Amino acid sequence: MAETGEGKLRFGIIGCGSIGPTHAGAINQIADAELVAVSDVIAERAEKVAQKYGVARVHDSHRALLADPDIDIVCVCTPSGMHADNAVEALRAGKHVIVEKPMDVSLEACDRLIAAEDETGKKLTIISQHRFDAATLLVKEAIDAGRLGRIVLADATVKWWRTQQYYDSGEWRGTWQWDGGGALMNQGVHTVDLLQWLTGGVSSLYAHTRTAAHERIEVEDVAVAALTFENGAVGTMTATTAAYDGLPVRIDIFGTEGSAIIEGDRLKMLKLKNGEEYASEQAAAHALSVAMGGTASVKDEAATRAATAEAGAVWGDAHRAQIEDFMRAVRTNGKPLIDGRGGRKPIEIIKSVYQSARTGQPVTLGK
Ligand SMILES: NC(=O)c1ccc[n+]([C@@H]2O[C@H](COP(=O)([O-])OP(=O)(O)OC[C@H]3O[C@@H](n4cnc5c(N)ncnc54)[C@H](O)[C@@H]3O)[C@@H](O)[C@H]2O)c1
Repeated sequence: MAETGEGKLRFGIIGCGSIGPTHAGAINQIADAELVAVSDVIAERAEKVAQKYGVARVHDSHRALLADPDIDIVCVCTPSGMHADNAVEALRAGKHVIVEKPMDVSLEACDRLIAAEDETGKKLTIISQHRFDAATLLVKEAIDAGRLGRIVLADATVKWWRTQQYYDSGEWRGTWQWDGGGALMNQGVHTVDLLQWLTGGVSSLYAHTRTAAHERIEVEDVAVAALTFENGAVGTMTATTAAYDGLPVRIDIFGTEGSAIIEGDRLKMLKLKNGEEYASEQAAAHALSVAMGGTASVKDEAATRAATAEAGAVWGDAHRAQIEDFMRAVRTNGKPLIDGRGGRKPIEIIKSVYQSARTGQPVTLGK
């Protein structure tokens, strides 16, 4: 393995279906990163990515790729229920590992992966790319700086549309074993993670789920939950793939000193009782910079990303930001923004939603 402190970091991708090529495109945009190998059990998928990005080594399985000594970082882009198995193997093969969301489909699998992270000392991150959106970073910074006061209510909605053909397009989609859930585990996990990260965590919940509008799926296409947060605030979470023909994701956070709304990946509103009001990332980033002097942690990153946001974020851009954060952790032996324990948090919430819906009882987390 290369000395990771200098030179290019060399990447390999396991799984070249829908999201694998997004990783390839993001790596391709990073100057000190190089994609050296790709793999897929469906050979033409890996070959297509290899051709597009001039990758010399194409493997027909994850194991063949992991045996390659020239790879520093492996991206796991296989179906959700394979993530922990693939990632544990990769860590034990001496690689640093980026795992697509969700971390895996059970808490037992997440815990196995965290144990391997601890045991090998290799770096691990779980993709939650919207944490790196300028809007999210700004709202997080404003909350952490106390500008919204004490949070009293937080709501998240993922009202999307997925066709029956979408679920029929892959054997693993819509199954408990490989998808691990439906609208909440697959589509909603991003927003569950943002909600828990922004608010500081969920402590208990009560939920209903339904398979209401699709056929031939085992999992939910509608989920609603009433939440209690660790700071005592309450809120709600709704996720569906049955809302024709889809709305932007939305997170509303109300504090004693102001409110913040994120819609899609953009800041819709940040409004404080002291009269400050911002309707764009740029304005909010500037105000936050001024208000916080040079002390903010994510402010500079947010301000930089806000400055480019107006040009229209390209798909894959947030993946690039998370991969860069991970590369920084690898090079400095530091912590990525999301490690194994961070990646587990939204899975615990989602599994608790399923438990509550199944039993008809509220669930207290962390038990
Ligand atoms: N972050 C995001 O926005 C985002 C978006 C889409 C998908 N995802 C996640 O990415 C994962 C993959 O989703 P997808 O839509 O790309 O699925 P997909 O079915 O399109 O692709 C998965 C690929 O993995 C390959 N594969 C399976 N076993 C393998 C093995 N042992 N070695 C090598 N390749 C193997 C399959 O042949 C397939 O091509 C899922 O967990 C999904 O939740 C994340």
